[in-house]
Parts: sequence; C-alpha cells; structure tokens
Amino acid sequence: MNAIEAILSRKSAPRLEEPAPNDHELELIYKSALRAPDHGALKPWKFLNVSGEGRGKLAEAAYKAIKKSDPEKALANKDKILSAPFRAPLIIVVIASTKEHEIVPEIEQILSAGAAAQNILIATHSLGYTAIWRTGFLAFNEEVSISFGLDKSDIIIGYLYIGSTDKKLEAPEVSNFNDFVYKWS
Ligand SMILES: Cc1cc2nc3c(=O)[nH]c(=O)nc-3n(C[C@H](O)[C@H](O)[C@H](O)COP(=O)(O)O)c2cc1C
Repeated sequence: MNAIEAILSRKSAPRLEEPAPNDHELELIYKSALRAPDHGALKPWKFLNVSGEGRGKLAEAAYKAIKKSDPEKALANKDKILSAPFRAPLIIVVIASTKEHEIVPEIEQILSAGAAAQNILIATHSLGYTAIWRTGFLAFNEEVSISFGLDKSDIIIGYLYIGSTDKKLEAPEVSNFNDFVYKWS
C-alpha cells in the first residue's frame, strides 16, 4: 500500500479486538510518529503505550482524577470511564509535551503532536490494523494528565484505540475537494 492509498482507505472503527501490532510493528509505528513535522526540533511529544492490565490502571487513574475535579461528572460516568479503555487491545495516548520557546508557540507544538497522531493512524492502517482517535473528557484535562504521572505542561491530545476488526468497514466518505479549496491563480 503506498502512502496515498493508505491515507485514502483509512477508516476508523469504534470496537477493536486482538491482535494488536506486535513489538516490531510498534517500532515502525513509533518511528512514523517521530517523523511528524517539528518546528525547532523540540520533539514535543510523549506517548503512553497502554495494553493488557495497563488499561485497568489507566481507567482507575482517570476515574480518580475526574472524581477530584468534578465528583458529579465522575459518578454519573463511572461505568463509562472504567470500561472505556477496554474497547481495544492497545491504546496509544498522544501527549503534546509543550516547552517554553521564544519562537515556537504552544499551538505549533500541539499541532506537531496532532501530526504524530495522524502518522500513527496511517502507519497502523498500512500494517493492516484498525484504529480510532478519541478524546472526550479524558483529554485536555490537567488532573487526568497528572494522574498519569505527566507534567503540568503536558497536554493529552488523543487516545488512539488500536486493534483489529472482522467487521466489514464501509468505504470512507470522499468529500468533493472543490467545496473546500479556494483557488488563487
Ligand atoms: C481530535 C479528534 C478527536 C476525536 N474524538 C472523538 C471521540 O471522542 N469520539 C469519537 O467517536 N470520535 C472522535 N473523533 C473522530 C474519529 O476519530 C473519526 O475520525 C470519525 O469517527 C470519522 O471516522 P473516519 O476516521 O473513518 O473518517 C475524533 C477525531 C479527532 C481528530
């Protein structure tokens, strides 16, 4: 599959099963992530690789963090929070590990982390796996970041759920690019 084929055929799926990428494939996936465009070579990224029992630990930490900042929300969503990580055998939590810099503002570092996340989705798909990028209230939440042992300047920008599916996925919708492109010629 070449790059254009991988980009055009990638499709998300909400529930994923084993198998997940093996160690060799994960190395390729992470190397792809690290090729994201990066102004100032700041490498403003961290990745939490969560699998097996790590998923339970992730859920517990997230639940406790949300309970601390918003007890009502935590109680109302307890089952959802605790079961969320079990929707796939592997989760890569993508973090914008932002740094003070006189030229490169935080937004550029967050965009760079977003590009790393997209590289992970494309690499994963080209290796024959399926994924979905999710956020919800477990992202962009300082308490949750701290409960995962991250720094205050770390921003969780996405949970990439990765695995396999035997469901036939619908072909991706292809929008008419002319609706979005304004030509200056
Ligand atoms: C930053 C970001 C956050 C997202 N968060 C969620 C989410 O929390 N839940 C969800 O169902 N889809 C979420 N999505 C959308 C899915 O990842 C996916 O793109 C969408 O379901 C369309 O499917 P497709 O990727 O096959 O086109 C998010 C996408 C992005 C870029």
